[in-house]
Amino acid sequence: MGDRLPIAADPADAYHTPVLLSQVLEGLNVKPGAWIVDCTVGGGGHTEALLARSAPDGRVLGIDADPAAIRRVSVRFADALASSRLVLHQSEFVRLEEVAAAHAFAPVDGVLFDLGVSSFQLQTPERGFSFSQAGPLDMRFDPAQPLSAADIVNEWDEQALADLIFRYGEEPQGRRIARCLVQNRPFTTTAQLAEAIEKAVGGRRGARIHPATRTFQALRIVVNHELQQIEGVLPQALRILRPGGRLAVISFHSLEDRIVKQWMNDEARTYVSDPTRLHGGYERQPTLRILTRKPIVASDDEVSRNPRSRSARLRVAEKLPPI
Ligand SMILES: C[S@@+](CC[C@H](N)C(=O)[O-])C[C@H]1O[C@@H](n2cnc3c(N)ncnc32)[C@H](O)[C@@H]1O
Repeated sequence: MGDRLPIAADPADAYHTPVLLSQVLEGLNVKPGAWIVDCTVGGGGHTEALLARSAPDGRVLGIDADPAAIRRVSVRFADALASSRLVLHQSEFVRLEEVAAAHAFAPVDGVLFDLGVSSFQLQTPERGFSFSQAGPLDMRFDPAQPLSAADIVNEWDEQALADLIFRYGEEPQGRRIARCLVQNRPFTTTAQLAEAIEKAVGGRRGARIHPATRTFQALRIVVNHELQQIEGVLPQALRILRPGGRLAVISFHSLEDRIVKQWMNDEARTYVSDPTRLHGGYERQPTLRILTRKPIVASDDEVSRNPRSRSARLRVAEKLPPI
């Protein structure tokens, strides 16, 4: 044993543990025969449970921007694919309506989003998502997209970088990090970038998270237009749901969660303020009923088994019928 070198983990063997799984199934109220769209297939953890709950004849349309995720899941669920219980489509989810129409997959009983990055992506150094493993500065969910993290770090001016790190990473030291990046670029690897950030903020000094965590998160959000994708897709999800159908969104970032919360609140509102109207507003028919006044979070037990679930926030809403 003692003389054996540790074997590097093969990302293909890594398993993405789905977060808040039972809460998602309950929230979506998945019944036999249900048609569900899983907009973020990832490692297929939620997909597997959706297929099982909707058996024997329910169907899942699985979408992911990452062609590697689609490839892996198509091997994992070859039987479900063969029987057409599972349909897979590589795309950004902002094209949801178009993708659903292409597969005649609407109206549906449920739509799920489990936002952000998967364990597979984090554990594949060549994808450049992780500061703890050296790889190219990439971070694209879809490697065919033109913008990579290297383009941003090496080309954006200092002010734009500082704003990006502060806004999307909620990193108070954004300005200092941006100055250091501009002084030390070009960067080609995640390791170089992580090291420069560590130097800029003065090392780890007992910090709970690596000093590069927030900057890496900010870059990933901007590379993949993550906030615009969510804003663009929520109205589409509502349109493809049947009345009584459910929408479940798991977010890991306060900016994502705020977008989801505000949009759900707007859709559930029965009174709209409008100072230009005679009575300062008007009554209207809401389109959604919110089922989670507060977001559902992972139990201590789940967090200890799967630390990634620590920042997960699940919000669920039901589409109301028109009157
Ligand atoms: C957290 S993982 C999903 C994990 C999955 N629920 C599971 O249990 O295995 C998020 C996945 O969503 C994908 N993704 C993120 N944003 C996307 C977008 N805008 N369009 C399509 N896929 C996206 C990522 O490529 C990643 O594979």
